Amino acid sequence: MTRPISDNPSQARSSGDHLSQALIHLDHLTHNVGLLRELIGDVSLWPAIKANAYGHGAEIVARHLVDLGCETLCVAHVSEAIALLDAGIGARFVILSATLPEHAEAIVATGCEPVLCTTGMAEALAEAAEKTGMTVAVHLMVDTGMGRIGIPTDEVCQFLDHCRALPRLRIKGLMSHFPRADELDKVYSHAQLERFKSIVEATRDQGIEVRHIANSAGIFDIPGSYFDAVRPGIAIYGLRPSRQIANRRIGELRPVLEWKTRITFLKRVPAGTGLSYGHDFLTTRPSLIATLPLGYGDGFSRRLSSNCDVLVRGVRCPQVGRITMDQCLIDVTDLEGRAVIGDEVMIIGCQGEEEITADELADKLGTINYEISTAIAHRVPRIAVDITPESRS
Ligand SMILES: Cc1ncc(COP(=O)(O)O)c(C=O)c1O
Repeated sequence: MTRPISDNPSQARSSGDHLSQALIHLDHLTHNVGLLRELIGDVSLWPAIKANAYGHGAEIVARHLVDLGCETLCVAHVSEAIALLDAGIGARFVILSATLPEHAEAIVATGCEPVLCTTGMAEALAEAAEKTGMTVAVHLMVDTGMGRIGIPTDEVCQFLDHCRALPRLRIKGLMSHFPRADELDKVYSHAQLERFKSIVEATRDQGIEVRHIANSAGIFDIPGSYFDAVRPGIAIYGLRPSRQIANRRIGELRPVLEWKTRITFLKRVPAGTGLSYGHDFLTTRPSLIATLPLGYGDGFSRRLSSNCDVLVRGVRCPQVGRITMDQCLIDVTDLEGRAVIGDEVMIIGCQGEEEITADELADKLGTINYEISTAIAHRVPRIAVDITPESRS
């Protein structure tokens, strides 16, 4: 059963017509959550669904995670939480990025739980909470070695003393983040974990409820890092944090996203024909060339031009010529007599025996799988595919 869902109502109406679609396999999401829960036991699972759920569609993903029993979800900005609350998602939201005092009122009004790492923000939140008679719960971010945001480890106790003077501010969580848990060598991460543990010890009598540091890599490779909650992102979507994860169970993850389109135009051209802008690409033989309604405006990077494959009828076909904003070309000469207008084309996913992964595209672009899925543009509809046991039989 496929179910078009979109953050954008006009897109929801037209998603069946759009010629490139990201299918979101909810059964794989269920599987990945189950695998992570097996690893963490009774610890709370707080999936990261920031940046439109790493490009998978925040509303679709959040709704399914709530159905799976996830009560807390992690976003990057209060605006992401507001959009999901407006869509009726009944979860608690932790905000992972540093926020500014001007966001305090919205944070308090929506009941979001932000990371906290400046006294200015602590005061702004307390003041906003005071105005409404509410209490705001926050998570103290300690910089144990990420080097991005956070209170230095030797200033945590002083920071807590400062917060104690702000009655409407509740320090609910103590948190940190791993920058290198996805590397084979875990020496740095273990040293970081020891620093976090010593802060946990030093703050034991401060009424802090939840300690959390583990991301996906931490869950797979650093079992001592679970504490009270974990914050996996990439693994929820069935992708590996890196190829250096040692835990073999990483191989059990199932990719949630499949990205496909269709052939809209076909032509035969002689050898020596220049294709697309700049004619960077010249055919070297009489060729059958197909046009796809997909370009960098959809998040199919122009830097992949003449440097990636797609799948048609289970066969790898090279993309040729510059990828333009809305369209690009592929060489289907090897499918002469078989390829037709309307054929399905897989950009990321399996067809027959072949598979193109987000990792394959990431390698070609010198980036990481995270960026590939997150870069899929808003205009590409995310379609929830809900294969229930009944619909499979
Ligand atoms: C603070 C924080 N926690 C958790 C995560 C999830 O990390 P991952 O996707 O590697 O599991 C992120 C991702 O960027 C993050 O910034």
